[in-house]
Amino acid sequence: MNRTKNMTISLMDLPGQYKYIEEEVLPEIKKVLASGLYVQGPKITEFEENFAKYCGAKYCIGVSSGTDALIFALKALNIGIGDEVITVPNTFTATAEAIVLVGARPVFCDIDPNTQNMDPESLEKRLTKRTRAVIPVHLHGNPADLDKIYRICKRKKIAIIEDAAQAHGSIYKGKKIGSHKSDFVCFSFHPVKNLGAFGDAGAIVTNNKKLAELVRKLINHGREEHHRHTLIGTTGRLDTIQAAILDIKLKKLDNWIKSKINLVEYYKEKLNGICKFIDTTPKSESAYHVLAILTTERDELAKFLEKYGIETGMHYPIPLYLQTAYKSLGYKKGDFPNAEKYASQTLTLPLFPHMKKSQIDYIVDKIKKFNEK
Ligand SMILES: Cc1ncc(COP(=O)(O)O)c(C=O)c1O
Repeated sequence: MNRTKNMTISLMDLPGQYKYIEEEVLPEIKKVLASGLYVQGPKITEFEENFAKYCGAKYCIGVSSGTDALIFALKALNIGIGDEVITVPNTFTATAEAIVLVGARPVFCDIDPNTQNMDPESLEKRLTKRTRAVIPVHLHGNPADLDKIYRICKRKKIAIIEDAAQAHGSIYKGKKIGSHKSDFVCFSFHPVKNLGAFGDAGAIVTNNKKLAELVRKLINHGREEHHRHTLIGTTGRLDTIQAAILDIKLKKLDNWIKSKINLVEYYKEKLNGICKFIDTTPKSESAYHVLAILTTERDELAKFLEKYGIETGMHYPIPLYLQTAYKSLGYKKGDFPNAEKYASQTLTLPLFPHMKKSQIDYIVDKIKKFNEK
């Protein structure tokens, strides 16, 4: 490889992924268009069944986004005004937004400094009589320690809703995320996710039949049958076109994840001793929605790499309790030291299934060059 030649490397390369599936996807989209069934229909059921099977869960309900998945899960558990829901501050705002949107109060706890996932000890300290649910987030696709969270919550009858927006195909204790003992597991199919639609989409999986039936009503105007509405719901359904696209991509998902894991191993080998990565635990296998490194010169490195055509990301640079939107909750700087430390150090590097090792070589070369300066 000519190391002096500049490349342009995006964080995800969705157009590149589209090229791989175009031939399969276009006829399926045409079929949906010709069927006239744009909302609901057998294609939705087919995808829901396939995704439930993929996750190892009994029920899957396709919904309009990952945010809606969290909102419907909270609503189905009848969580609202006067209730508290504990989550982490180093997540996308949607996790806490969903709590606010059902009328409940988000309560934050700190993260484990090694995995950057929910710290069960900090969680335990935040429990009150009003705690109704806990939302662990599988950050970057790396599963949170569910066992410890179950141990704390189950005896107090506190519900658990996993935010698995970044964790399709991730594995905890040898089993896929979606198959464990939480009340609900919520997925996002936002285009950038490992299983991404061509627009907004999401899903909820559960092993609880009653809860599954309730969510199915909530996403469809409380409809019991045609012209009969037994509760207040809304329009929260997954689009049929998106279900058709997702069903094709689902068949490729494990291979795409495998490819990402191989690329991460290559990155780690090449950056050994140069960059620090976020740890997984022996219980968790990340599906690498993104790959993050930790550096105290995060902003400088991002700018340096940009000069060489390398796009990077930050997941997430500001803990939620320091965002203006959550000001009224009354948190302040210094409340959660681990969350704050890692918010300032986390930088995500380009990673996508069809990435070439030569692209990683180029990125590694530029990181080394940055370190030599
Ligand atoms: C951790 C997390 N939670 C929730 C969401 C919300 O998903 P969506 O964008 O599909 O509404 C996302 C996606 O961006 C996310 O990364």
